[in-house]
Amino acid sequence: MSTVRHIDHPLIKHSLTILRNKDTNTDIFRRHTAIVSKILIMEASRNLSLNEIPINTPLTETTGYEILESIVFVPVLRAGISMLFPARDFLPWAPVGFIGLERDEQTAIATEYYQKFPKNLADKQVIILDPMLATGGSLLDTITAVKGKGAKNVSCVCIVAAPEGIQLLQENYPDVVIYVAAIDEKLNSQKYIYPGLGDFGDRYFGTQL
Ligand code: PRP
Ligand code: URA
Repeated sequence: MSTVRHIDHPLIKHSLTILRNKDTNTDIFRRHTAIVSKILIMEASRNLSLNEIPINTPLTETTGYEILESIVFVPVLRAGISMLFPARDFLPWAPVGFIGLERDEQTAIATEYYQKFPKNLADKQVIILDPMLATGGSLLDTITAVKGKGAKNVSCVCIVAAPEGIQLLQENYPDVVIYVAAIDEKLNSQKYIYPGLGDFGDRYFGTQL
């Protein structure tokens, strides 16, 4: 079974078109990032186990449900923060681990500058959030880091991926499912996703100006 789940939804296509447009301003870019992220996170959480619980509505007793599994979100700093806000809307109690990685502009190799994870990742469902999967170096390092802390159940949620990055993750971590809104054509000579949407972090945080 493929470890890639391409979430092909009309609402995603609509919002992605706005994200890709170079004339989209920061405000609108943030809004459509949240829409795409929410749809992807809904898919990534589709198989969560539920516990039946008795509850009382104002009218009667009935059966409700509570989520059994413990989820940990791991946004990859900095751009992954953009997906943490929508994730938190669904699961506001979920612990959050952080890893900071920055690609060198010349080599496209990511260097880690920060790491802080909750304890006991072994029994948690770890959902890594990073909007761009380009060479795959950043996500490879992140998966290695969370697995190094004991995580066994790991998935990644990305907005745009390049085939090269997907291949790298599949070769190294075939157990990790990647949820993605778009799989683009290739990486360009600067290792940017093509056609892509440019530098996600700069566009989301308004630092491209
Ligand atoms: C971007 C993006 C990913 C990474 C993807 O981060 O958010 O983390 O590049 O590239 P890769 O698959 O080739 O590793 P960047 O390093 O630009 O940092 P930022 O999030 O601080 O903008
Ligand atoms: N990081 C981005 O923000 N965009 C790309 O296309 C590749 C890496």
